[in-house]
Amino acid sequence: MKRLGILLSGRGSNFLAIAKSIREGRLPNAEIAIVIANVADAPGLKAAQDLGLPTAVFVSKGRKRAEHDADVAACLREHGVDLVILAGYMRLLSPEFIAAFPNRILNIHPSLLPAFPGLDAQQQAFDYGCKVAGCTVHFVDEHLDHGVIVLQRSIAVLETDDAHSLSNRILAEEHVAYSEAIARVLSGEYRIEGRRYLRISEAAPTPVK
Ligand code: GRF
Repeated sequence: MKRLGILLSGRGSNFLAIAKSIREGRLPNAEIAIVIANVADAPGLKAAQDLGLPTAVFVSKGRKRAEHDADVAACLREHGVDLVILAGYMRLLSPEFIAAFPNRILNIHPSLLPAFPGLDAQQQAFDYGCKVAGCTVHFVDEHLDHGVIVLQRSIAVLETDDAHSLSNRILAEEHVAYSEAIARVLSGEYRIEGRRYLRISEAAPTPVK
């Protein structure tokens, strides 16, 4: 069994989609070891408690990033976490935290990266007039919304869309994408070449010399 540590700050719909995937057998070798919030009244935290999952809160406001992150990292270790899942975690991670979980932290971002990193990505895509939008699951490195991409899902931007309807349809893709990406990473059947994530079955065979 691989143990997931979920970090969230808000609503928690991605977390709930992952919990549902586990319940429904789509992530057969995963379990949620701990849900950690950095905001005391995050609705996602309450939802985790309602599901009877272990939870912890480390309020980040007003704390030094490195100190806060050290508490979170210690909690993840105590709970034997194999893979850290950022699910709407609205806080940059310290380099020390990232180094403590090398290629073991995933994030989901509501755009087709590298377009529109940062806040309000869906609004940015809408305002830019994009015809295609989507979401990206990626490993976390020291730069914002930047690490190696595990997978992306795209949708057409409709002429009838506004930023709100577009966000909702991207969110529905996120809920599928995150579990799929977690399954792929937990399978261990991949390698990383530079910025490229390659599924071993799809990777070109090494040429025989
Ligand atoms: C999602 O849009 C995710 O892509 C972004 O933050 C939002 C979190 O939503 N990183 P939720 O809390 O999972 O509902």
